[in-house]
Amino acid sequence: MLILGIETSCDETGVALYDSEEGLLADALFSQVDMHADYGGVVPELASRDHVRKLLPLCDQVLNEAGLTRHDIDGIAYTAGPGLIGALMVGGAVAHALAFALDIPVLGVHHMEGHLLAPMLEPEPPAFPFVALLVSGGHTQLVEVAGIGEYVLLGESVDDAAGEAFDKTAKMLGLDYPGGPRVAALAEKGTPGRFRFPRPMTDRPGLDFSFSGLKTYTLNTVNEARATDDLSDQTRADIALAFESAAVDTLVIKCRRALVQTQCPRLVIAGGVSANKRLRAGLETMARKQQASVFYARPEFCTDNGAMIAYAGCQRLRAGQRDGDRIIAVPRWPMDTLPAIGESRLAGLVD
Ligand code: KG4
Ligand code: ZN
Repeated sequence: MLILGIETSCDETGVALYDSEEGLLADALFSQVDMHADYGGVVPELASRDHVRKLLPLCDQVLNEAGLTRHDIDGIAYTAGPGLIGALMVGGAVAHALAFALDIPVLGVHHMEGHLLAPMLEPEPPAFPFVALLVSGGHTQLVEVAGIGEYVLLGESVDDAAGEAFDKTAKMLGLDYPGGPRVAALAEKGTPGRFRFPRPMTDRPGLDFSFSGLKTYTLNTVNEARATDDLSDQTRADIALAFESAAVDTLVIKCRRALVQTQCPRLVIAGGVSANKRLRAGLETMARKQQASVFYARPEFCTDNGAMIAYAGCQRLRAGQRDGDRIIAVPRWPMDTLPAIGESRLAGLVD
């Protein structure tokens, strides 16, 4: 079954073709990062308008790359949420219009389920069950995954998401949006041990996270350095390293707890922050001691992309799930309300 996947939840237009027998055939991405950089963050209306411009040309591009035509597509999957409502509507409208014209099924997919399943596109995918750490710009969650749609939320951030904390730290250090990769690059030049930042919520039991205290601690450190005329390039790098180490340690400690609590030997990390090298290394070291394995997607499939939506949609469309005539766009949508494969998908939808 050949599925066209469409991702437009935020500031990347992602399109891919995934075949249930042959795997990923083509994928293409247009990032709007440069357009939003002047504003220091994503401007929703500009994002929607650019998805309108880029989406159909990208669909043609992946079909050309795969040597296929629109008539070869058996089904369409698009991101139905969570995300920016205008941006979601563009993907949903194009997906429904194409599916109507081609007379094929169409399905709205949960963006975080897409991230969660992205490591399945790799040569050695994880087997179920596993524990998943979802770390993106909007979410930080630990989830126990028994199968597709069988999700138990173990813990989540009570305030900022991990990616958001990276982005805000970048702003404090005068780095551009999106900040995660830039903070990580600056931290490479940092002096280990010059600053030590707190590891929030690691001194009490539980699997919830909090990153706003760490953000405030970072801001205070930046302000103190500025007040003493010491915000040199080296100090900025030292602060970036102290922040990254604290954020990574916090995530690693909670992941270890989740593996112990669930007795599960497999950890999946997904979402933009899972591209972070220090996080991957920290989790690998921890997992070895726990006799567990860590799974993640290649870096371009950690951040937003069409391939993860095509894959997740393919699994659900093959199980017979599809939308009715209505475009689905759900800005906030808890992932543990999703049905398992085989159940009616409308049962879990928040309108
Ligand atoms: O999953 P994603 O592309 O979009 C959302 O669904 O939010 O995640 C984007 C987030 C941003 O906050 C970005 O700064 C962060 O992922 N990110 C990183 C890295 N690459 C992306 N954070 C830390 N280190 C990275 N290498
Ligand atoms: Zn995402």
